[in-house]
Amino acid sequence: MHRAGIIVALIGILSLDITNGRSVNRFGIFNIGPKNEENALDIQISFGVDVIRAHGKLGLSLPAAVGEWTHCNDDQTCVQWGDFATVELKDGSAPGCGRVEWTTTYAREIEDCYDIEEGVHWYGGGETHTQTWPIESNAQGEGAHITGGGDSIQKYDHYYLGVVENYWLLSNGAALYVDPDTPLFFSLNTTRPNRVCFIARDETPFTKREPLTLKYEWCTAENVKAAHQLAISTFFEKPTGIPDEVMLVQPLWSTWAEYKTDVNQTIVLDFARRVVSEGFGNSSHIQIDDDWETCYGSEEFSPTKFPDPKTMVDAIKAMNMRVTLWVHPFINYECPLFTEAMSNGYLVKDAKGKTGITDWWQGSNTGIIDMTNPDAVTWWTDRLRNLQESTGIDSFKFDAGETFLLPASSVLTGESDMWPQLYTTKYVETCATFGGLAETRVAHLNQKDVFFVRMSDKDSRWGNNNGLKAMIPALLQMGIVGYPYILPDMIGGNAYGDEMPSKEMYVRWMQLNIFMPAVQFSLVPWKYDSETVQICLDVLAQREMYREEILAAARQAVEDGSPINRPIWWVDPTDENTFTIGDAYMLGDNILVAPVVEEGAVSRDIYLPTGTWRSAVDSAVHVGPQWLRNYPAPLNVTPFFIKTA
Ligand SMILES: *[C@@H]1O[C@H](CO)[C@@H](O)[C@H](O)[C@H]1NC(C)=O
Ligand SMILES: *[C@@H]1O[C@H](CO)[C@@H](O)[C@H](O)[C@H]1NC(C)=O
Ligand SMILES: *[C@@H]1O[C@H](CO)[C@@H](O)[C@H](O)[C@H]1NC(C)=O
Repeated sequence: MHRAGIIVALIGILSLDITNGRSVNRFGIFNIGPKNEENALDIQISFGVDVIRAHGKLGLSLPAAVGEWTHCNDDQTCVQWGDFATVELKDGSAPGCGRVEWTTTYAREIEDCYDIEEGVHWYGGGETHTQTWPIESNAQGEGAHITGGGDSIQKYDHYYLGVVENYWLLSNGAALYVDPDTPLFFSLNTTRPNRVCFIARDETPFTKREPLTLKYEWCTAENVKAAHQLAISTFFEKPTGIPDEVMLVQPLWSTWAEYKTDVNQTIVLDFARRVVSEGFGNSSHIQIDDDWETCYGSEEFSPTKFPDPKTMVDAIKAMNMRVTLWVHPFINYECPLFTEAMSNGYLVKDAKGKTGITDWWQGSNTGIIDMTNPDAVTWWTDRLRNLQESTGIDSFKFDAGETFLLPASSVLTGESDMWPQLYTTKYVETCATFGGLAETRVAHLNQKDVFFVRMSDKDSRWGNNNGLKAMIPALLQMGIVGYPYILPDMIGGNAYGDEMPSKEMYVRWMQLNIFMPAVQFSLVPWKYDSETVQICLDVLAQREMYREEILAAARQAVEDGSPINRPIWWVDPTDENTFTIGDAYMLGDNILVAPVVEEGAVSRDIYLPTGTWRSAVDSAVHVGPQWLRNYPAPLNVTPFFIKTA
């Protein structure tokens, strides 16, 4: 969008400083390289005329042989290397934003990098296995910036989890958005030390394109919050409604971590009865996880494990809870339905036009429903709706959906420049048609859809490496890329391998979840002791007390795209102390939660930004900004504070 009248302002916002950086540095190699930067141009991103928000280098990987650049126009906003490559600075999509647009006929790679500067912190990008807030300390080798993608060549050891957007935010008040049709690779402080790099390269898993482009936009504003608000209103859609209100307040109970695949009708009913008898009668729903089908993909209850699903569902509903069911987009080869799906062309095909065979954690020869093919979607969703009709199931837990689970060289339907992530987008759009209890664990360009997006399976450990300490960073990260309705993974994690959460870990996990947008149990609190049960009930009662704040924040997301749970800088985006706080979060604008996330700790430091804060622990009033050092938090205490002025 070009707006007359903002051109003058834009010249001040983006300035291309033509000092041809003939650096002799050849940096170390992480997983590719060596990488040259002979022809790189300096760029600075400024706010107004002389407040610089970011410094970068354009065209780092252009081959030395391309020689000298020349200007391609009079106002010096465009540089070209003959007919090899051109980079142009253009108006952005909104006042305060400006674009960088590369086009190249011959280069197979375009790479622009920006400095990680002292005191400037980065947020955004994707949900990652090791999750930190901010992200700049979480080095990342160069890899495809896609759901389930990243820098690993090991399929199941990928860097990104299920939620990825081409959006980054800087704590000094700048935001960057890369056009979604870019074959984007990303690296952070690896291939190019102390730089964040954005690379367009039309290689696997992206399609070939001619010409190759790298187009992105910087927006700058007064501070981090203003830059974020400008960016989300410019680049993201907002949710068109809020999901299920009961699920936003009351917990759900999944069979997964507690029973894994050992579920059947008796076990599910006993689980539901125990939930009620232990005092958790005010719960949203029971979620029946893997493995209930006759075979993976049949979407029919196993008659031996579940002889009468309708009676089971009715019995749970009589306990005042709903019921959801785990489903996935796969049909395993051994399942009779595979043939029907294949012959109708409903499974993702490979480049040769044949049904692509892939694998997942419950099958090594499997087809995957093509969610980009409308006929396949209709067939698949009709089957699910029939199942709902015959059994009373309320909605579904939709698993998988990341690009790494697609067959090699998949051919999808629709805009090929959006492959492979178009699969994720279409899958989530489809899942969201199943109402406000629907959950997925993936999202890409799905901000408008109404659904819960679950954090990927967390491990039962303390660390940032996908454990308890990754929970708040993941919450903030998913919120900042446009998803307010986050379903935290299960209290205590998944107990994979020989990991089993201690009572302490379980309790701290419950407490840190207190004002997140939903609560999900699986490992049951009564496997510990009555104190654990009581702490869980107390936390849920506190949640119930603040239900209006949760629902108000959920509704605000529909108005302006704000996350329900906000980083502490939301309160005062000029306060540098708030930029690195990844172990506390806000519910809306007025409730600050600072749970204990360290093993063995019974106190913690808490930063209160500007304002008057009443402690929910002892009602003491504290005036910020200030650090409360060693704030007492024995095992039964969740420190949180209400902003009263
Ligand atoms: C980048 O990596 C280097 C080398 O590992 C490290 O010393 C530096 O602290 C990292 N930068 C950031 C911002 O974490
Ligand atoms: C359920 O919630 C209601 C109020 O909404 C409350 O009166 C009741 O005690 C709760 N029951 C349990 C078992 O927590
Ligand atoms: C479910 O499994 C339990 C434990 O293995 C068993 O006792 C029960 O009979 C099973 N019920 C059904 C319906 O298969």
